[in-house]
Amino acid sequence: MKVAVIGAAGGIGQALALLLKNNLPAGSDLALYDIAPVTPGVAADLGHIPTPVTVSGFSGEDPTPALVDADVVLISAGVARKPGMDREDLFNVNAGIVKSLAEKIAVVCPTACVGIITNPVNTTVAIAADVLKKAGVYDKRRLFGVTTLDVIRSETFVGQLKGLDPTKINVPVIGGHSGVTILPLLSQVEGVEFSSEEVSWLTIRIQDAGTEVVEAKAGGGSATLSMGQAACRFGLSLVRALQGEANIVECAYVEGRGEHTRFFAQPVKLGKEGVEEILGYGELSDFERSSLDGMLETLSNDISKGEAFAK
Ligand code: APR
Repeated sequence: MKVAVIGAAGGIGQALALLLKNNLPAGSDLALYDIAPVTPGVAADLGHIPTPVTVSGFSGEDPTPALVDADVVLISAGVARKPGMDREDLFNVNAGIVKSLAEKIAVVCPTACVGIITNPVNTTVAIAADVLKKAGVYDKRRLFGVTTLDVIRSETFVGQLKGLDPTKINVPVIGGHSGVTILPLLSQVEGVEFSSEEVSWLTIRIQDAGTEVVEAKAGGGSATLSMGQAACRFGLSLVRALQGEANIVECAYVEGRGEHTRFFAQPVKLGKEGVEEILGYGELSDFERSSLDGMLETLSNDISKGEAFAK
C-alpha cells in the first residue's frame, strides 16, 4: 500500500506521518508532500525510525511524485487563520487548495481513496467531489471527510465521565464536522446510561472541543496531535479494508443515500473498493432526532457552498 500525506510538514501532517511510519503494515510506502521546503527533511527524519515502512518526501509546486500510485491520499494541506483574515478569506484559501489538489488527483491517481482533513470539511469534501466529477473520475465510494476526531473525542469524554476504559467505548458520530452538525449518538453507547443533563452538556462539549484546544494553546494553533491520531486511525482502517480485512467500520463524511443531505457523516463498512456499505445508526433518542433536524439546514448550506465553489 502507498499512503500519501499532503500537507505533511504541518502540525497535523507531521503527527500523522509519524504515526503512520510506526503503524502502517510492513512493506507500505509513505509519501509526504507539502509546499514547504522542509518536507524532504521531515521524510529523512522519519526515515531513521526502524520500521518496515519506506518514507519519501517532496516539496515545491507539484504533488505528482507523492501521488503516483497512491492507494490512499490524506489531505491536511491548508492554512490556519492569521491576523486580518476573516473566516471567508480562510475558506477561500483552503477551498482553492483542495480544488487544485483534487484536480491533480483526478489525473495522477484517480482511483485512490481520498480522505479530506482540511477544514471546513463539510464544504471541502463537496468541492473535491465535484472537481473529480467534472474530470469524469468521481467514485463516491472513494471520497471521505475525516470526522474521526469527533469520534475519538466522544470516546475520551465518555470514558472520563463514566470512569471507563476509553479504548473499549464506541460512539457513533453522525452529521458533519463542525459545531451543531456534529451529533454524537450517546443513546447508542453500549452498556452506558446518561441522564438528560449529561447528554446535553456532553454533546456541547464534543461539538466545541476544538475551541477547548485553541484556547488552551493560547494563540499557538489548533488541534494537531489528536487530529493526527484520528486521521491515522481512519487511514489504517482504510488500508486494512483495502487489503481485504473484513468488518472494518468507521464513521466518515461520505456521499451516501442522501436521506438527509448529499454528504453525511455516518458509520460505514469499508472494503476493497472504499465504502462497501453505508450502515444504519439505529433508533435515535428524542434529543438526537431534534438535534438532527436542527442541523440539516446548516449542513446543506455548507454543502451548497462547496458545490458553488467547484463550479
Ligand atoms: N499543498 C500542500 N501543502 C500545503 C498547501 C498546498 N497547496 N498549502 C499549504 N500547505 C501546507 C503548509 O505548508 C503547512 O505545512 O499545509 C500545512 C498546514 O499545516 P499547519 O499550518 O500546521 O496547519 P494544521 O494545524 O496542520 O491544519 C491543517 O487542517 O484542520 C484543518 O483547518 C485546518 O485546514 C487546516 C488543516
